[in-house]
Amino acid sequence: MVNLTIHPDKRKARIHKEIYGHFSEHLGRCIYGGFYVGEDSPIPNVRGMRTDVVEALRKIRIPVLRWPGGCFADEYHWMDGIGPKESRKKMINTHWGGVMEDNSFGTHEYFELCEQLGCEAYVNGNLGSGTVKEMSEWVEYITFEGVSPMADLRRQNGSENAWKLPYFGVGNENWGCGGNMTPEYYANEYRRYQTYVRDYKNPDNHGQKSINKICCGPNVDDYEWTRGVMDTCFRHCETRFHGNMDGLSLHYYVHPEGWEIKGSATDFDDKTWYKTLSKAWYMDELVRRHSEIMDEYDPAKQIALVVDEWGAWYTVEPGTNPGFLYQQNTIRDALVAGITLNIFNKHADRVRMANLAQTINVLQSVILTDGADMLLTPTYHVFDLYKDHQDNDLVKSFIDSPETGAEAEYRVPQITESASVDKDGLLHITLTNASLAERTEVKAMICGHRVLSADGGIVCGAMDQKNTFEEPDQVTVQNFSDFQITEDGLTVNLPPRSVLHLAVKTA
Ligand code: AHR
Repeated sequence: MVNLTIHPDKRKARIHKEIYGHFSEHLGRCIYGGFYVGEDSPIPNVRGMRTDVVEALRKIRIPVLRWPGGCFADEYHWMDGIGPKESRKKMINTHWGGVMEDNSFGTHEYFELCEQLGCEAYVNGNLGSGTVKEMSEWVEYITFEGVSPMADLRRQNGSENAWKLPYFGVGNENWGCGGNMTPEYYANEYRRYQTYVRDYKNPDNHGQKSINKICCGPNVDDYEWTRGVMDTCFRHCETRFHGNMDGLSLHYYVHPEGWEIKGSATDFDDKTWYKTLSKAWYMDELVRRHSEIMDEYDPAKQIALVVDEWGAWYTVEPGTNPGFLYQQNTIRDALVAGITLNIFNKHADRVRMANLAQTINVLQSVILTDGADMLLTPTYHVFDLYKDHQDNDLVKSFIDSPETGAEAEYRVPQITESASVDKDGLLHITLTNASLAERTEVKAMICGHRVLSADGGIVCGAMDQKNTFEEPDQVTVQNFSDFQITEDGLTVNLPPRSVLHLAVKTA
């Protein structure tokens, strides 16, 4: 038995809905064939965007979509993606498979997609190979409502009104594919580039901020990068600079067998299951340690840690283009997602956005497509289970879970949890059970409240269970009622290999 204690009246932080964000890069079949099929496609679409995909993502209330990369962002020249499609410049996507990019999906198409999805925009600018002028003009093109060269060009290209741009990334992975910079060099570049990312809706800098600027943060455990960037950006205690950095990104991928080998998405043994999940749990340490460094410069936590790339990264599916990063998705990925999202919830005071990599057909996707067919992955169903945490208050909770795992090096808490209260007072609890074999009784004490009723949904199955185009519903959300209401809370019988959501009505 495992004890879980929840204090619904001890509110800790808001779980920003953006924690449940997604990422879309011009990579493989994420944009082309995934989101976008073009207006003339026989696949049902609205202005080129796949109807099935848009509906599925609206259902999980996608809050924000990062675009256009990734490594692609620092090679992308936005002017190539505007104007009549037939005259748009073509380029080679050198990073991802060396295929031809025809730029038929550009700025207008991206904002059309965000509108159809009902989500916020997060555009990542090009600092690695672009100029300050180019970045500045992109922001003018997107956001300026008055008369100006870029706003006029936007109108000429069919969009009378400016768009909302709540998030703008100033470069991507500038320690690597975005220019191989040192932390100090990048931080100085950040200071310069961001100066010209003008907030036209807030010209005097006293009103409501409309663009949140995201600075390129560390890869995995590169604490030196975090310190170096923070140090350069905050040198001489420039409190004024606070307003000029709203987020610092963090990228972390789970590779079961390391970066070189990675490992199969579907063919793995018990040891690899635990190794993968312990690597997912490592996110907790990363968030804590990077946050501690940020605290030294920003104790009030005004700057968000934005985990704008995360997920499991395996060897590509046999027979597919290695540059397209196409992989299947199993119950193991459901656990990776459930564990990671619980970590983000628990750190909601600092982690205020996260973007799973990547939405469709790339890495740990929530959707896979094959021509006109589409399937929802086990990871999708976890986002469906967790969506009720969005914008809730995180509440204080604690679990005394034992560790589980086959090897001492790769142990992981058997049960992880997070709990939040929504605007109607409903308590939402999410639990993961990483054990391959053990059904566990979780005794949840809900302090200061009596449980009236509860509704549950669960994702569970064999460790390598997956959805295929032939059998798309092998893994879905099932109703869950294996719990008893007790005097001081609930007792839940949590099956092995599972991710659970409970919505609990209390008095
Ligand atoms: O998501 C795939 C790639 O991983 C991104 O382009 C890059 O930012 C990261 O290295």
